[in-house]
Amino acid sequence: METVPAMAAPSLDHIRALDAADPLAPARAHFALPPGVIYLDGNSLGALPVGTAARVADTVQREWGSGLIGSWNSADWIGAPQRLGARIAGLIGAAPDEVLVADSTSVNLYKLLAAAIMAQPGRRTVLTEPGNFPTDLYMVQGLAQLVPGLRIRQAEREAIIDAIDDDVAVVMLTQVHYKTGHRLDLATVTAAAHARGALMLWDLSHSAGAIAVDLNTAGGDLAVGCGYKYLNGGPGAPAYLYVAKRLQDRLQTPLAGWMGHARPFDFDDDYAPAAGIARFGCGTPAIVALAALDAGLDTFDGIDRTALYAKGQALADLFINVVEAGDTGIALVTPRDPAQRGSHVSFACDQGFAVVQCLIARGVIGDFRAPNVMRFGFAPLYLTYADVWHAAQALVDVLHTRAWDRPAFKLRGKVT
Ligand SMILES: Cc1ncc(COP(=O)(O)O)c(C=O)c1O
Repeated sequence: METVPAMAAPSLDHIRALDAADPLAPARAHFALPPGVIYLDGNSLGALPVGTAARVADTVQREWGSGLIGSWNSADWIGAPQRLGARIAGLIGAAPDEVLVADSTSVNLYKLLAAAIMAQPGRRTVLTEPGNFPTDLYMVQGLAQLVPGLRIRQAEREAIIDAIDDDVAVVMLTQVHYKTGHRLDLATVTAAAHARGALMLWDLSHSAGAIAVDLNTAGGDLAVGCGYKYLNGGPGAPAYLYVAKRLQDRLQTPLAGWMGHARPFDFDDDYAPAAGIARFGCGTPAIVALAALDAGLDTFDGIDRTALYAKGQALADLFINVVEAGDTGIALVTPRDPAQRGSHVSFACDQGFAVVQCLIARGVIGDFRAPNVMRFGFAPLYLTYADVWHAAQALVDVLHTRAWDRPAFKLRGKVT
């Protein structure tokens, strides 16, 4: 995957000059990062925005405490899934009424996969890739138990376009791979799916807020994504789903809950789907969690998106260059070409788990994905060039000194 040669590591003086000239530097003040920590895991759980605690407290104390049940109307709790969806639409190149915040990414995958299959009578295949994020694979495996004759076919991402045939109802892929960081071109793959009459379902969990995503320009059909990664919505934040306007009234969710009903407060015995994106709602929205997600989305207000995405790539380049100049022998897994990657960088290392734990003990937080991948995410809103330079130097030092080789760094918790 390595297409561009490694460059020499820049000096710390050069790094300080980059930070001094960074137009996004003020955004860091919108995050409550602990002192002494360099946080390279915003691709897994975004950092806490300064505004979140007050927003959640207001929702709990004023809206819930004083407003009680009246807040469904007076605070427009009932409109929150569409209101927040419209905000996320701005980050993924969708129209405001094409995105809904609801449920988890897993549940949204299930809803849109099933909806796509029902809309494609005569086609029985879901095409995906081996090594896709596990929940994406598990959701389609679960669906296959329920839908007679549904076939799951897998092709490596390099071969995915050639694997689309006339039996494929839906192609389901994660745009930026959670482990390798490899990025697929949204428009090219979507066009290839359409050329064979298939629908395209994208998981944008590692894309939104980190790289430019333009679903409408790409002719996108369906997409889902997490609220807790680059969108900074907090642990377990509600997820989002996107359905292109032209498909909304053709598709039917398999989870026909009352919140997707045309008139939920008529309390009809029979389900009648709401018009538009609202039909993809299911149960009562998690209002306190939505308040936290709303505060997370505030961190993108007034941010120049072009500068944001360019900084993410520059931080990743810097990390790669400094680590490789350290001559540690670990192998870059992520494409070197910024156009082919998201905003995280992975290195393969057999001792990766212990190395990451050792780095965490030094205040550099990355993560590990079995069997041997060390992952480092570059959230451009709150990282400085100096952070990334120091983190890369720390990684090099940990590898050269074998500081990772202690029993304490080899103990695995439930979450890695
Ligand atoms: C690509 C991808 N999809 C889905 C998920 C998880 O979705 P859920 O919100 O259902 O836990 C993750 C979690 O890391 C992910 O990386």
